[in-house]
Amino acid sequence: MKGMNSFHVAFLPGDGIGPEVTAAARELLETTGSLHGFRLRSTEHPVGWDAVTRTGSPLPTNTLSACRQADAVFLGAVGDPAADAAPPEQRPETGLLALRSALGCQINLRPFRSLEPLMDASPLRPERIRGTDLLIVRELGGGLYYGEPRTLDPPGGSHRKGVNTLVYSEEEIRRVAHAAFKLASERRGHLVSVDKANVLETSRLWREVVTDVAWEYSRVRHEDMLVDRAAMELVLRPAAFDVILTSNLFGDILSDEVAGVAGTLGLLPSASLGIGTPLFEPVHGSAPDIAGQGIANPIGAILSAALLLRHGLDQSDAATNLEEAVEQVLARGFRTPDIATEKHTVLDTQAFTRQVVDQLIPTGELLPPDSTKPEKHA
Ligand code: IPM
Ligand code: MG
Repeated sequence: MKGMNSFHVAFLPGDGIGPEVTAAARELLETTGSLHGFRLRSTEHPVGWDAVTRTGSPLPTNTLSACRQADAVFLGAVGDPAADAAPPEQRPETGLLALRSALGCQINLRPFRSLEPLMDASPLRPERIRGTDLLIVRELGGGLYYGEPRTLDPPGGSHRKGVNTLVYSEEEIRRVAHAAFKLASERRGHLVSVDKANVLETSRLWREVVTDVAWEYSRVRHEDMLVDRAAMELVLRPAAFDVILTSNLFGDILSDEVAGVAGTLGLLPSASLGIGTPLFEPVHGSAPDIAGQGIANPIGAILSAALLLRHGLDQSDAATNLEEAVEQVLARGFRTPDIATEKHTVLDTQAFTRQVVDQLIPTGELLPPDSTKPEKHA
């Protein structure tokens, strides 16, 4: 294995369908490694409710230190109905938010491209969805998710109150805006910044800072849009968007709306980048209703693995190959049950994944370990 690039990926399968889709992502990353001449060192660590039941914490110290040491982290999903009654520090979601924050993941990319073979999965008419190729850039390190104070009066009292705080600093907005403008300049050069500046002070600041950052990117056409209007435009004219820049909460909501436009939450990948190890996770949750049945759609996870290759390991050819393999398998009519119609061949998670593996392999022989070209990313 001498002379071969080696990458450490920490896999955090988590809850519900998390382990099933993580297995798919891992298999494809390993296959891709042997095709593109790098070795994947995989380790696996508990997170979420799974970690609570084993260690009492949704983000055990060992998991976090493994993530810090890795080149990239892949997370399946967190969340379990049994956790509803747990105290806040033991909620699976608390573990995920702590992980994003500890890794300094402030910039979350959620791309969606409408694939020709999946046109029929969308509830929209083909002429509306066709050509959609958008990227949500969601601020992930602040906003309503992390603002203090956050309190909830204990049950039993009268006139109880819950409090959350929406706060954004100029610096936080500037950082994510730069990332979004830079991405827009490498895409079609159009950026819509989404806020609620007619009501919220944080949004007024958001708009000012984004407008200021826009001066530095003369090739990018920038417009501001209120979030309610953006929610409507995403359904009416999804293909009109290129980059959507928005805050943590709005990005959470709009990305599920995009999943609705696509036809299922199972398709969307995400990448969370910032100052520490980058984190990759499908946008979908743990789907407890279908967990353990082996029928989860692995596409969101597989496309997250592609983002991991591109943004985490600097292997963009490998990423593109993987994305194309998924599209080809879909074009051949293979589907998991969530997006299958009578004209499709229905496969379970593992069988679908195997099709993608098989699709990849004929495109290149498995490289013998030491015939590999050195790459700039050691
Ligand atoms: C997402 C999820 C998470 C979020 C939850 C699980 C905390 O909905 O990644 O979109 O709200 O960020
Ligand atoms: Mg969400």
